[in-house]
Amino acid sequence: MTNLFTPYTFNNNVEIKNRLVVAPMTHLGSTPDGTLGEQERRFISNRAENMGIFITAATLVADGGKAFFGQPAAIDESHLASLAETAQILKNQGAKAVLQIHHGGIHAIKDLNGSDKISASDHTETGTRSATVQEIHDLIQAFANATDLAIRAGFDGVEIHGANGYLIQQFFSREFNQRTDEWGGSVENRLRFPLAIVDAVTAVREKHAKPDFIIGYRFSPEEPGENGLTMADTFDLLDALVEKPLQYLHVSLWDFYNKARRGADESKTRIEQIHARIGGKLPLIGVGNLLTGEAIEQAFSTGFCEFLALGKAVMLNPNIATLLQEKRYGEIESEFDPERADHYGYPDLLWQYNCDGGNWLPPVKGREHTPLNI
Ligand SMILES: Cc1cc2nc3c(=O)[nH]c(=O)nc-3n(C[C@H](O)[C@H](O)[C@H](O)COP(=O)(O)O)c2cc1C
Repeated sequence: MTNLFTPYTFNNNVEIKNRLVVAPMTHLGSTPDGTLGEQERRFISNRAENMGIFITAATLVADGGKAFFGQPAAIDESHLASLAETAQILKNQGAKAVLQIHHGGIHAIKDLNGSDKISASDHTETGTRSATVQEIHDLIQAFANATDLAIRAGFDGVEIHGANGYLIQQFFSREFNQRTDEWGGSVENRLRFPLAIVDAVTAVREKHAKPDFIIGYRFSPEEPGENGLTMADTFDLLDALVEKPLQYLHVSLWDFYNKARRGADESKTRIEQIHARIGGKLPLIGVGNLLTGEAIEQAFSTGFCEFLALGKAVMLNPNIATLLQEKRYGEIESEFDPERADHYGYPDLLWQYNCDGGNWLPPVKGREHTPLNI
């Protein structure tokens, strides 16, 4: 019987000791130049115990794409030492260290970036302009360069952040990509940018002759807007990704049991249908508002994914994998207690946001909470 603590061997023969993954979490704690900050160091230093994989916060690959205050970066040599320390902190705790590589596109924050904002198309509300073809190639190269830094820094892998509405998803989305050249229009053209990034990233692994370097891809299955991504688009993406030399796919869900909105069977969950479409060609990481031992166990027992990522549960319980392994479910906390700052060790801004009750963050003790659900 497979359970959360059954090891898994990826198609490149890398063994992952169990099925638990720390979800990528922006912690808002890096220094302004994207190197490891003291508060970030504290946040990541005790959250990987007994976890199979730790995926880092979204890490910026190019100037102009910074989407968070205190975001880590993997842009040039000035970031190498920090990346190496980050990888070491995670690996010392026994988890595989995977760097999530990211660019915000229209969601980049102007004040945090030196250069102007680019994405697939003009987006007046956010002051973004459409990238030139040369800039598109430069962006693809930036993901490759971040991968090169990750390998040299000693990471076990990278995760391409194609989810949550950021740059890569903006190119795939009919809503945001209005280009009429080969980078927009038909589904083949909208897939060109994400797939070019996958190819560029895998080429870096080949160049380093490191077949055991893990490459994963994270995607969001649907967008709410009228012309936004549907499950049918996602099936096209998956059909293309399973042909690539990747190790895993990672669906970004705010609720594990979300049903499909459009383009698939609306009576069934997204994750079940995504898993069926992948058809065992790659393992899938599932995620989404699993805050108790029972909920985590039950989600895994659906068989809809090979791995489970935990975000809020890891924020609240730095040693959650140990609690799960030892079946100490009664000790798992599923609410944030503003009286216990020391227990969590969050960076200040993340602490502030959680105290303010952000719907993407853990529920606050004694307060109404409607979790984000898109
Ligand atoms: C504080 C915080 C930061 C996050 N940052 C990222 C990120 O950097 N990259 C990403 O892909 N998802 C990010 N997410 C989404 C999580 O990876 C995860 O998909 C989401 O929180 C749902 O899982 P959960 O309910 O277990 O937290 C973040 C979520 C939280 C709560």
